[in-house]
Amino acid sequence: MAKLTVRDLEVQGKRVFMRVDYNVPLEEKDGQMVITDSTRIVETIPTLKLLIEKGGRLILTAHMGRPKGKREATMSLAPVAVKLAELLGKPVTFVDDCIGDQVAKAVAAMKNGDVVLLENVRYYNEEEANDPAFAEKLAQVADVYVNDAFGAAHRAHASTEGVARLVAKRGGKCAAGLLMERELKFLGDELENPARPFVVILGGAKVSDKIKVIDRLLEKADTILIGGAMAYTFRLAQGYQTGKSLVEPDAVETAKSALLKAKAKNVKFLLPVDDVVATPVKTDKLDKKGKAIIEFQNPTTSPDQNVPEGTAGLDIGPATIKAYAAEVLSAKTILWNGPMGLFENKQFATGTNSVAAAVAEATQKGAKSIIGGGDSVKAINKAKLGDKVTFMSTGGGASLEFLEGTELPGVAALSEKTSCSCAH
Ligand code: 3PG
Ligand code: MG
Repeated sequence: MAKLTVRDLEVQGKRVFMRVDYNVPLEEKDGQMVITDSTRIVETIPTLKLLIEKGGRLILTAHMGRPKGKREATMSLAPVAVKLAELLGKPVTFVDDCIGDQVAKAVAAMKNGDVVLLENVRYYNEEEANDPAFAEKLAQVADVYVNDAFGAAHRAHASTEGVARLVAKRGGKCAAGLLMERELKFLGDELENPARPFVVILGGAKVSDKIKVIDRLLEKADTILIGGAMAYTFRLAQGYQTGKSLVEPDAVETAKSALLKAKAKNVKFLLPVDDVVATPVKTDKLDKKGKAIIEFQNPTTSPDQNVPEGTAGLDIGPATIKAYAAEVLSAKTILWNGPMGLFENKQFATGTNSVAAAVAEATQKGAKSIIGGGDSVKAINKAKLGDKVTFMSTGGGASLEFLEGTELPGVAALSEKTSCSCAH
């Protein structure tokens, strides 16, 4: 990797301003916000421990949710500070603001190895606007800058980009944390020259969300397996009936060109050969957004590529599972992004769970498996297979954009590794 990392950084006695992605899921229980998955916090611990060992003074900044410039009590990072202290086994000072006097005071009181966590940086609109004056305020306590927030690196915000630029301008170093380094290694370098066969599994609702990734991976993969609702847009492109399945008629041409490109590049491009279908019925129950909840009745396997009238395709069927598992088990490198069906509903989770199991088994047999963030990570964790894959990304949108080949602003702003004293 060409970017400077915390390993290269001299931090003894310095104020290390570090951006982390602690945007973890919270749930209200008895009037308290409780963290339901602390993966993103756990994954930064190695970076924090290294910097503490090196004698840095760590000032952590992060966002929670999308409060849009307001102090939303439910989006406070206070519960994260408690969890972090527990994981680090040392006190973490929580500061109720991310700029201003309170921050200056807390930082002035720090000793080497101390850790401070600042309140939600998105309580200020200037964060997402990447406002230079706001970045300047954040940067007041920064001698060096570290970014370990891979999950937020696709955002060009003040704390992910603006501060780094300011610190660099002053001659300070900006380094990637160990988590950031790992993400870039697995989602980037490892997929540049993958051991073959390289099998990619892509799912999710929309072709339009994934087309850039599909397009890029058609250059690299030996096999691409398609699942999720986006498979029905491909079916539409092939002239099949899709019933009440979720489809994007606007993306049919895009799907057609992906199919042509796969042929031209000699990439094995597999679509489901059977489905689990059910009849969607509107209930009079409303969801959190006030929309009628849809119930899916009479789930059955449909062996026909035409989805029966009045039903929607909601998962890949048994023949598809068998075919996809065989491909996965023959792979040396696996990349998975996106579920195979409506896996939040147990009736339609078999496809996703079976693919997860096949990925775990292939890994056991020596394949490298990389799980590209968001729902696929949720699915792997739900199946309790998290420790059976090679790497799981902590990024959702960020991992997708990175896989598309986009340069992430939070990465671009980091210092290059230069003046290397070694022999290359
Ligand atoms: C995420 O959870 O995807 C990241 O923390 C980024 O959050 P955002 O999508 O609100 O920018
Ligand atoms: Mg997001």
